[in-house]
Amino acid sequence: MKTTLDFTGRNIAITGGCSGIGFALAQTLIALGATVYIADIVKNPPAELVDHDRIHITYGCDITKRDACKSFIDSIPGRLDGLVNCAGTSTWEGKIGSDEVYQRTMDINVNGTWNMGTEAMRRMSGQEDVESPGAIPGVVRNVGQGAIVNVGSGASLRGVSGLAAYSASKHAILGLTRSWARDFPKLRVNAVAPGATDTPLAEATVAAAPTGDTNVIIGKAQIASIPKGRMAYATDIADAVVFLLSDWSSFITGQCLPVNGGNF
Ligand SMILES: NC(=O)c1ccc[n+]([C@@H]2O[C@H](COP(=O)([O-])OP(=O)(O)OC[C@H]3O[C@@H](n4cnc5c(N)ncnc54)[C@H](O)[C@@H]3O)[C@@H](O)[C@H]2O)c1
Repeated sequence: MKTTLDFTGRNIAITGGCSGIGFALAQTLIALGATVYIADIVKNPPAELVDHDRIHITYGCDITKRDACKSFIDSIPGRLDGLVNCAGTSTWEGKIGSDEVYQRTMDINVNGTWNMGTEAMRRMSGQEDVESPGAIPGVVRNVGQGAIVNVGSGASLRGVSGLAAYSASKHAILGLTRSWARDFPKLRVNAVAPGATDTPLAEATVAAAPTGDTNVIIGKAQIASIPKGRMAYATDIADAVVFLLSDWSSFITGQCLPVNGGNF
């Protein structure tokens, strides 16, 4: 009887799995036995990718395009046990952001999550429930039809100066998460809210800010004040997502798990 975190035989889809948090998540899930299906807009494999027969990547898949999301979900054989909506964007917006950045941010972060989430839920809501053994002999968990995890942000829970469009988009992620959880009670739909995480996206967001911008200085001070004393590693966030995908969170739905080293 398997009582540890075990994803053997489980098919998990990840958007944005070619970089940062999504990439760390894909590697973690592979190590735990899952078969991983990645949809990413990049055209080439990430340099760090170690090819594996349980990683399948659809390159050039743009989650803002509904037909691309449908084709991706349709291409996954067998049962779809989980989806992680991880692909996202952010850039420094300043106090008066541009309409173009606003539209792009909403398009990827909100519409992309909507598109892939909706296609996945259509598929998953037709599946049989799965039962798995609990850690205590005789205890059985009903883990339902599958799990969806949406990657929000600390900016899902508060406004962030200079990132208004990003904050609005990440608040919207919570709205989708909470409503989907009520609409699909046989699925589990949760979100994570990462704090500052050391990835190419975080680096690019800070780099886009003008030198000397007080918000950047405030941002740096905030990092210094994280009780854990550092930014998150991508693996810190991946671990939390794995828990929410796993049979060990079978009664958790509609929730948002902050992963921020105590900087709430
Ligand atoms: N890094 C942080 O500090 C931080 C903090 C809070 C939340 N987040 C969230 O975590 C998620 C992952 O961010 P990350 O830091 O790992 O970023 P990242 O840039 O390292 O990875 C994002 C991935 O998404 C892909 N992507 C972007 N647009 C896409 C599209 N239209 N279609 C398909 N794929 C697309 C990119 O190609 C990339 O592989 C994002 O939703 C982000 O908002 C990050």
